Amino acid sequence: MTATATTAVGFDPRALRARFPILARRVHGRPLVYLDNAATTQKPTAVLDALTSYYTTSNANVHRGVHTLAEEATALYEQCRTRVARFVNAPDPRGVVIVRNATEAINLVARSWGATLGDGDEVLLSEMEHHSNLVPWIMLARERHVTLRHLPLTADGRLDLAALPSLLSRRTRVVALTAMSNVLGTINPIAEIAAAAHRAGAVMVVDGAQSVPHMPVDFTALGADFLAFSAHKTYGPTGVGFLVAKPELLERMEPVAGGGEMIREVRLDWASWNEIPHRFEAGTPNIGDAAAFPPALDLLEELGMAAVRAHERELVGYALERLRALGWLQLHGPMDADSRGGLVSFVDPEIHPHDLAQVLDTYGIAVRAGHHCAQPLMRRLDVAATARASLAIYNDRDDVDALVEGLVAARTYFGLA
Ligand SMILES: Cc1ncc(COP(=O)(O)O)c(C=O)c1O
Repeated sequence: MTATATTAVGFDPRALRARFPILARRVHGRPLVYLDNAATTQKPTAVLDALTSYYTTSNANVHRGVHTLAEEATALYEQCRTRVARFVNAPDPRGVVIVRNATEAINLVARSWGATLGDGDEVLLSEMEHHSNLVPWIMLARERHVTLRHLPLTADGRLDLAALPSLLSRRTRVVALTAMSNVLGTINPIAEIAAAAHRAGAVMVVDGAQSVPHMPVDFTALGADFLAFSAHKTYGPTGVGFLVAKPELLERMEPVAGGGEMIREVRLDWASWNEIPHRFEAGTPNIGDAAAFPPALDLLEELGMAAVRAHERELVGYALERLRALGWLQLHGPMDADSRGGLVSFVDPEIHPHDLAQVLDTYGIAVRAGHHCAQPLMRRLDVAATARASLAIYNDRDDVDALVEGLVAARTYFGLA
């Protein structure tokens, strides 16, 4: 075992664990080693307390009431919006639409902005996208005869930027890319691509589901027009996500769901729309979970996102080194830690990833196995599935060591060692 030390970045991941009660539990009699953070992160006590506090002191519906509880609930809900805008350096909280998750945020853009596209228009995606940033555009292409194009990948799992000039044209209306691959870990040069997209007259949609929780993300500096991410991958509750947008673009968009909250005036056969962002938030929103998200952002701001990235960069470098040294694993994605976020996908050629994940679970180690909602990428990599270990602020070298020991033990279990 490697001794745990405060990382060079200035916070001690092991000390942080005391703030995440679930990390104290045991699984199959072993301490939990949680390495499934790309699927969802664990929640700090501050978030759990905020959730309880909301329901025990301030629960009411938002925006419509004048009584004290309604005003408190509205203030907490709107505070979530303001805090998200600040966290990603968005120009205006009016550009932050509170939705259920990153998936819903991308669907909102594809349906609403997408409604302005037609025959012959093109949407540029990539071969490394999550289904959340593929299927909404496939649905749009079916409805509106839009053509989908895809940036190919290089052999080491990066976007092949040499192909960009031939794929971007005056027909390209939308470029939608992940800032960080949930399978390869690749961090994409979004600012550079956004500049090229804008020169071609397209809008830039950024899937920030894996980047916002793990590195500094500056909506304005990126040159993004739309940015999607989920609270539950950012140490917050499930059921809340965000579409961060340039307000002037939202102003031009039609709502995709009708009902209460999103209207200005309704007659029997006619309605007009509320101001942005409320126009896109039909019905009673997920107030409690939105109210409980800011403490997660407080924690990340306390650590500093540059420090969070430095910690995960160091740890993924260590994981790559140790996993590569085993000698039998196929590792996917760029091999240098500077180019990738804190996750590693791997395949043991002789053990199916599901079997591997199951054996690791018996050692208390949680990793994900499967296609990771990226079937086209699996096809591109020529694998049916991979196992994936994904890191967070509370992981350290001991967790990586435990994973390596588990992988060795799995070989013994299957009679391969
Ligand atoms: C890159 C990427 N995009 C989008 C999503 C979808 O996130 P959610 O399920 O929270 O909507 C995920 C989830 O794994 C992801 O990894």
